[in-house]
Amino acid sequence: MTPLDYEYLRKLLKERSGLDLSADKQYLVESRLIPLARRIGLPGISELVQKMKAGSAETLTADVVEAMTTNETFFFRDKIPFDHLREAMVPALLQARAGRRALRIWCAASSTGQEPYSIAMCLREFGAALSGWRIEILATDLSQGVLEKSKSGLFSQFEVQRGLPIQLLVKYFAQVGELWQLNADIRAMVQHRQLNLLQDFGHLGTFDVIFCRNVLIYFDQDTKTGIFERLAKMVEPDGFMVLGAAESVVGISDAFKPHQDRRGLYRPNATRTVKPGLAAATPQPAKAVAMASR
Ligand SMILES: C[S@@+](CC[C@H](N)C(=O)[O-])C[C@H]1O[C@@H](n2cnc3c(N)ncnc32)[C@H](O)[C@@H]1O
Repeated sequence: MTPLDYEYLRKLLKERSGLDLSADKQYLVESRLIPLARRIGLPGISELVQKMKAGSAETLTADVVEAMTTNETFFFRDKIPFDHLREAMVPALLQARAGRRALRIWCAASSTGQEPYSIAMCLREFGAALSGWRIEILATDLSQGVLEKSKSGLFSQFEVQRGLPIQLLVKYFAQVGELWQLNADIRAMVQHRQLNLLQDFGHLGTFDVIFCRNVLIYFDQDTKTGIFERLAKMVEPDGFMVLGAAESVVGISDAFKPHQDRRGLYRPNATRTVKPGLAAATPQPAKAVAMASR
């Protein structure tokens, strides 16, 4: 890969997925894209870039963007967010939504499904307290490939051994050959939709809880600021947002304020004054990211 190839890919990935690669990440690009190039019969990355530049390879560009996403996830990842859900968010919402008896939760970079299904199992464990409630869990991701796997509800032995308590495995999964499949009623609690966070997502409506974990970490500061501004419009005023262990709003946006006792948990900031001309709040036009969001 030449320095020019690398610059082309860096720019493309930033525009299409928000991925902010520093100047020294050639090894990462090579490790992810050489297998893709070989799979389609090309000798290397330079030829892949040539084919993309030729302009007739929309699918190829989407495949490149997808190959560069990091999909690492596991059940009940980091444990603490699910303690927050069980101990703080659901109890508060049980009271606040007692009239409506409905909850909307958005898992904004859901990867292969372990996160939204952990949320679903957590809610199901509330038993009678939530019975009869309309529960909607929306799982979205840039990558169509991970969404297809998530929809299947099928997980390997290795995947169910990462973070999933054995009681929940026994209770909610059935063995299918060498794999484990989530019960249909837990799967039915989660709807899937392809969505690029760089694009407008206002049409999704508002949510009581947004999980947006371990994705913004790959974006630059302006992109994060813009996404926080737009996420703040999607959370109910008494709702919650959850970030990953290495993520924070501090120094990036005052659209949310950290929960005083619970790390990684945020609430919309009702008291802030929005600065005029907050350009970063404007999403990229759909056209610019259209290929990545098929
Ligand atoms: C590391 S996984 C995190 C999964 C899960 N939230 C967790 O914490 O376990 C990051 C996910 O973000 C998705 N992603 C990357 N860029 C995105 C974008 N611009 N819009 C939506 N999803 C994106 C990737 O496809 C990947 O599945």
